[in-house]
Amino acid sequence: MKTRKNLFIALEGIDGSGKSTQTKLLTEQLTAQGHKVYSTFEPTNNQIGKLIRDILRGNTKADHRVIAGLFVADRLDHLLNEEYGIVKKLEEGYTVIMDRYLFSSYAYQGAHMDIDWVIQANAMSAQILRPDVNIFIDVSPEVSMHRVHTNRENVELFETLDGLKLVRSKYMEAFEKLKDVEYVFSVDGNRTPGLIAQDIWQKVQSMLGQ
Ligand code: ADP
Ligand code: TYD
Repeated sequence: MKTRKNLFIALEGIDGSGKSTQTKLLTEQLTAQGHKVYSTFEPTNNQIGKLIRDILRGNTKADHRVIAGLFVADRLDHLLNEEYGIVKKLEEGYTVIMDRYLFSSYAYQGAHMDIDWVIQANAMSAQILRPDVNIFIDVSPEVSMHRVHTNRENVELFETLDGLKLVRSKYMEAFEKLKDVEYVFSVDGNRTPGLIAQDIWQKVQSMLGQ
């Protein structure tokens, strides 16, 4: 049974869906209300996360199965590390906002290999910490593609229209598979950042019992 009052929130969505933007807005709102907030992201900026980013940029070659394994390792370290691990942050009373977590692996690695294998490979992290809510910012792949290409110099491994469509469909598949164990709240991300933030804030407030 959950005993802590502070929430663990994961933001999910395809590339360019607005996760970073919404993480920032939600952090500001919670902080303004006096909550201690720790916002973070995966792949991390730690050693394993850096290696992953190098691979996603195409600078280092690795098989998809290796990438899946690296995400598993990066995530476990992100949870358990004695210095920056989020298990400890939650114990210390922080509300933790994660820009991507388990469902990102199911959707992205599941696009290249058996999704059930990916779910199994991440079972340890899921057992340690499932989010109180997974907020899925649902943006059409066309809109997201436009945003990514207008605003970025580097386009990463999965950022083609077909890639984004496939990843979105894998998110849906994973939500359906895990509907009994994971709580997912979906918001229409094809709107202005302000409107999306309003929906997210309403949900978070209701979960905080406000
Ligand atoms: P993600 O973290 O999901 O990749 P970002 O928050 O970095 O997404 O947003 C990708 C780009 O789209 C950024 O340039 C950002 O300013 C812009 N953006 C974010 N949310 C919206 C929105 N609701 N409408 C239009 N543009 C947006
Ligand atoms: P991110 O930096 O969040 O990119 P963006 O801002 O474009 O959403 O994530 C980098 C890439 O890592 C993104 O394409 C999704 C991918 N990814 C996975 O493939 N598996 C995972 O488990 C995670 C956390 C991310």
